Amino acid sequence: MIIGVPKEIKDHETRVGLVPSGVTALREAGHEVLVESHAGDGSSLTDREYLQAGAHIIESAHDVWTRADLVVKVKEPQPAEYDFFRPGLILFTYLHLAPLPDLTDRLLQTKVNGVAYETIRETDGSLPLLTPMSEVAGRMSVQVGAQYLERPSGGRGILLGGVPGVAPANVVILGGGIVGTNAAKMAIGLGAHVTIIDRSLNRLRELDDIFNGQLVTLASNAWTIGENLKTADLVVGAVLIPGASAPKLVKREMIANMKRGAVVVDVAIDQGGCFETSHATTHTEPIYFVDGVLHYCVSNMPAAVPHTSTFALTNATFPYLMELATYGLEGACERHASLRDGVNTYNGYVTHSGVAASQGRQWRHLAGVQ
Ligand SMILES: NC(=O)c1ccc[n+]([C@@H]2O[C@H](COP(=O)([O-])OP(=O)(O)OC[C@H]3O[C@@H](n4cnc5c(N)ncnc54)[C@H](O)[C@@H]3O)[C@@H](O)[C@H]2O)c1
Repeated sequence: MIIGVPKEIKDHETRVGLVPSGVTALREAGHEVLVESHAGDGSSLTDREYLQAGAHIIESAHDVWTRADLVVKVKEPQPAEYDFFRPGLILFTYLHLAPLPDLTDRLLQTKVNGVAYETIRETDGSLPLLTPMSEVAGRMSVQVGAQYLERPSGGRGILLGGVPGVAPANVVILGGGIVGTNAAKMAIGLGAHVTIIDRSLNRLRELDDIFNGQLVTLASNAWTIGENLKTADLVVGAVLIPGASAPKLVKREMIANMKRGAVVVDVAIDQGGCFETSHATTHTEPIYFVDGVLHYCVSNMPAAVPHTSTFALTNATFPYLMELATYGLEGACERHASLRDGVNTYNGYVTHSGVAASQGRQWRHLAGVQ
């Protein structure tokens, strides 16, 4: 198969869909890889590295898209890329089609077979191609929180770990899933006093075992959240109700009762945020204040560390890419039910119930349109 890797063109997107080690593995399996010139620059991966790994470096996006049987990307195609669509092309990327009816129309009209990272679901219910970005954002949340707690950045002027004779900072994490657990690891590593609040008692039991007494676990309710926020220096919002908007666990008056110069990092902002006072911000203007409390609500945190994020993402996507290249879309889906869940459009039909429901469209089972 010929695999194409275009340079991402979405605003501020600096990740890339394949790293040089992936090129070598695909070449060894008998495939050809076309990488658009400078595709890896934003992730500090050079054309020379791709060349040495066995890729062909191609000057134009047009040539990459039109010569490839399968295009592997990071973000959903942008309008400038729609003209490259053609029947039978396999597109493997984050698609997030639900709010994008125009892109969906174009994929259907041109009969592109779109496989979306975000809907690939393993048999245990996990979403393996979303997890790596939650790991990155969770770890980053404490790093950015520590930075903004510094006085010159607008915070209270607190060192997370304290020093001998001075108490460490209080870090409160709302939600103990992937983001929350990774935030806890970083905060404990820096010596902070850490509390995780989750509504799942089973999850709290697991966290208690994992961290073996290094943090406090609390069952989620409004009173507990309000009391813990009064003494918090850094609060990380990391709750998720799959498929729904984030619950607004932190009310405006709880923010008003917090210490001046405390910091909240609302990682759940991509689902609307779990603080009533949150609104999405960007890497260019990441923060604002409400009642003297510093808010950081960047909805694409991993974009700040594209080198790490690219490797984290491609570690997870590559095994699926290899299956698609080796067995073709139909063969790979026959072997892996999880990949079937990833197919959002096939041969002019919507093949994912969630995408269809969110856009009020008809959909067909993949098996019925193959
Ligand atoms: N901003 C970014 O750049 C970025 C990057 C990655 C992930 N995210 C987002 O971070 C959020 C968390 O992702 P995750 O992978 O950790 O999800 P997850 O499913 O692994 O964990 C969510 C946790 O929230 C808990 N929860 C749900 N409702 C709760 C409530 N009322 N009170 C307390 N806990 C509650 C669940 O029990 C679960 O343990 C998601 O919205 C995700 O999209 C944002």
